[in-house]
Amino acid sequence: MTPLDGDRLRAQCSGIIREVRVVEETTSTNDAVAQLGIEGLALFAERQTAGRGRLGRRWESAAGEGLWFSLLLRPELELRDWTRLTTWAAVAVAEGIEAAVPCRAEIKWPNDIQIGGRKVAGILIETHARGEETSAVLGIGVNANQAGFSPPLDATATSLRLVTGSEIDRQTLAAAILRRLEARWADVARDFPALLAAASGRSCLFGKNVRARCGDDFSEGIAEGLDAGGGLRVRLADGGTATWRGGEVTLATGV
Ligand code: BTN
Repeated sequence: MTPLDGDRLRAQCSGIIREVRVVEETTSTNDAVAQLGIEGLALFAERQTAGRGRLGRRWESAAGEGLWFSLLLRPELELRDWTRLTTWAAVAVAEGIEAAVPCRAEIKWPNDIQIGGRKVAGILIETHARGEETSAVLGIGVNANQAGFSPPLDATATSLRLVTGSEIDRQTLAAAILRRLEARWADVARDFPALLAAASGRSCLFGKNVRARCGDDFSEGIAEGLDAGGGLRVRLADGGTATWRGGEVTLATGV
């Protein structure tokens, strides 16, 4: 395994990413970055001992098998617009993966990246308030070089190596994703419709029967599109519409 080179990654950044560090091991890069509190710091760990996904799930983060990193931001946006960060990150990660690896990366709203119906990357955004200051920690996990997954992950996950049949150069992949995060950043504040269009063009849910869990209840319908804030517009069985703002969405067929 070739270790990531933080200086080379930093040299390719010229915008919101001001510093890049690579550590051998940490619990979770989201926690490490939140603790450091340095705006614009992207921290990569070769291995996480307590990587986590959404809804408190464990995130497998073995040494050298993927990209496990977090970026701390203090966006100059109304707090109500911080949900845009999810759309931005999903588009940038999908575009970065495609720039580095021959594949078609789709977005499973709100923040999974899939290839051929299997999850290859996930995004976890957490906000922190310290006094007056609020920051967002964007955590990204990309499965790059796993040769396989154990149950139950083997039913839904994939890696870029499994998709392409070749070893993935993680340095090139990391650089491509950081570049797309920076390239798409201006759109968050100035042209969010452009991000919505890009996310819509990559959606694997539109036109499909989807199901969301709301506490103990389930809601079901046909995914129609994204609303102006990035929520998922769904046509319900009774003919009405609903806009889902987050949560766990699955295809109603159980995928
Ligand atoms: C998900 O799909 O549930 C989100 C997965 C996010 C995983 C990344 S890996 C880097 C960062 N540190 C963590 O502990 N989680 C995120």
